Amino acid sequence: MTTPQAAEQATPQPVVAVLGTGIIGAPVARNLAKGGFTVRAWNRTRAKADALAADGVHVADTPAEAVDGADVVLTVLNDGPRVLEAVRAAAPKLAAGTVWVQVSTVGEDIDEIGAYAAEAGLVLVDAPVLGTRQPAELGKLVVLAAGPESVRPTVQPLFDTIGSRTVWIADDGAKGAASRLKLVLNTWVIALTNGVGEALSLAKGLDVDPRHFVDVITGGPLDSGYFQGKSAAVLAEDFTPSFTVDNAEKDARLAAEAARRTGLRLDGVEAGRDRFARASAQGHGGEDMAAVYFASFDDADAADASAASDAEPKV
Ligand SMILES: NC(=O)c1ccc[n+]([C@@H]2O[C@H](COP(=O)([O-])OP(=O)(O)OC[C@H]3O[C@@H](n4cnc5c(N)ncnc54)[C@H](OP(=O)(O)O)[C@@H]3O)[C@@H](O)[C@H]2O)c1
Repeated sequence: MTTPQAAEQATPQPVVAVLGTGIIGAPVARNLAKGGFTVRAWNRTRAKADALAADGVHVADTPAEAVDGADVVLTVLNDGPRVLEAVRAAAPKLAAGTVWVQVSTVGEDIDEIGAYAAEAGLVLVDAPVLGTRQPAELGKLVVLAAGPESVRPTVQPLFDTIGSRTVWIADDGAKGAASRLKLVLNTWVIALTNGVGEALSLAKGLDVDPRHFVDVITGGPLDSGYFQGKSAAVLAEDFTPSFTVDNAEKDARLAAEAARRTGLRLDGVEAGRDRFARASAQGHGGEDMAAVYFASFDDADAADASAASDAEPKV
């Protein structure tokens, strides 16, 4: 009879390098380490990676040091150019045939990433995720995956550790089918977030108690987890980032560019992108994207949603 120890020896867990330990990368690395994988992490701001050492993550000084000897490399950086920069820096230590799981939201930069993977002899799995800080911490991301059947037995256990669901879209990561699905999903996220922010700002402008707005929506067909989370953030003035305004601006820009390229007009996405950019210019770039609420106000003092929630109902 095979003992569990013997089975472990027979199928060793892959060594995983995680490049980027921000809001998503940090819990991904931590959950993989807790799940029994050997994890090496690199982050530009080393302190964020150092915080993972207590959970068994080995911290590397450079991308090359992180990927040296790794079977799988996960990139969780903010955008396509940053992903390529990190993987190019790691290239001297990347063995041909290494599996590259690209988790960041990169939009159609996936085409350049796919071309680089082919040039460097890496097996690309295009694997953007749906879910923010809390699902990432709970290992409940939804992984949108495209990659060859041959590497699925290697990467599926990783996806099962960081996510609650994997949706395999296609068998060629370089074609970017998963990244394109992610752009479609983000179009909906951008609409929801801006919709909540604009409705709450109008409530403020019209002196309508926002609690009535939230109350009427709650439990009805217009309700959603996003509505609850983002309206609560604005009313509590708690903009601890689950997903930053700056990354939301980037995602809206990627969706708008992809739409323009195909001859589509996504007016809402373009307006949303401009609102995220304005909120960032107001100093909210590192806050949660719920802070796009502030883009409705030229005068920062006029934006205090909590003051409105203390007011007597006017309706
Ligand atoms: N948060 C979410 O809800 C969510 C959900 C789905 C997908 N995503 C996507 O996942 C990716 C990571 O998101 P996140 O929320 O984890 O973002 P984040 O917290 O802003 O982390 C971004 C990561 O990129 C690194 N980075 C940024 N600029 C860099 C540069 N110039 N050179 C080197 N490294 C750089 C950061 O390093 P430093 O720590 O040094 O800044 C950090 O590791 C993004 O593509 C995002 O769109 C996020």
